[in-house]
Amino acid sequence: MNTDPAMPKVVATVESLRREVAAARRERQRIGLVPTMGALHEGHMSLVRASNDECEFTAVSIFVNPTQFAPGEDLDRYPRTFEADLNKLAECRVAVVFAPSAEHVYGPDHATWVEVDRIGRRWEGEHRPTHFRGVATVVLKLFNMVGPDVAFFGQKDYQQAALIRRMVADLDVPVEIRVCPTVRESDGLAMSSRNAYLSPGARRRATVLWKSLCLAREMVAQGERDADVLHRRMREVIASAEDSRIDYLALADPDTLEPVEQIDGPTLAALAVTIENTRLIDNEILHP
Ligand code: PAF
Repeated sequence: MNTDPAMPKVVATVESLRREVAAARRERQRIGLVPTMGALHEGHMSLVRASNDECEFTAVSIFVNPTQFAPGEDLDRYPRTFEADLNKLAECRVAVVFAPSAEHVYGPDHATWVEVDRIGRRWEGEHRPTHFRGVATVVLKLFNMVGPDVAFFGQKDYQQAALIRRMVADLDVPVEIRVCPTVRESDGLAMSSRNAYLSPGARRRATVLWKSLCLAREMVAQGERDADVLHRRMREVIASAEDSRIDYLALADPDTLEPVEQIDGPTLAALAVTIENTRLIDNEILHP
């Protein structure tokens, strides 16, 4: 545990976390939570800054949540860069970093799960059937552990943010959800901790996700309204990258995530593509 005063305070138990939050509450501070799995990049830092703008007290959780990984997924190789993460967080105003062990979060008798129907079943839910159950459960636990006024998520994980909004509304969780814009590399690739898995060649080809979204955005701006036509053109862009496979590509209502056939209002374009062995997701709202 670090004791360097320049570094954010790190706590590993719910009891010590609650002590920090309770002290801030006594000072009438607004509490912001940025949930992360570590391997922090500019995308995460933009969430921390958004919390700093709105809240006097920012808590960041760093927890690689095992229950959102299926057997055979990348739990073991998920990047863990705790010291570097703390150094990055030291540049912002972070009151506390909550970094519990898996055993602390999930007791041996853990038996309760949060399932979000409909939104949680499609796209990521179809390809990773137990993923969102793990996400919803850990996020609700984090909300209960911290008791934040506001929690910050990135638009890159659009479906995750929609699912969390649904859960918060359905279960009357007293927290406001903010969704902050995706932060991109200079060539448009959405920042993600998983980008570290890309080989140099796959990294170059990974720009096809953003290129296909930009093409859809331009076509819609120029009057295209037919979702089938957009699908076809987006698929062509993705297919131009060697060794790429589309897991899903959807044009959908931004609130319900129901697929649309015509672009009549703001429409979510969302996709997941595997390049070599790395699965990437991205999305953009198209405005007719
Ligand atoms: O987006 C993530 O990093 C994770 O899914 C989250 C929200 C921290 C839950 O583990």
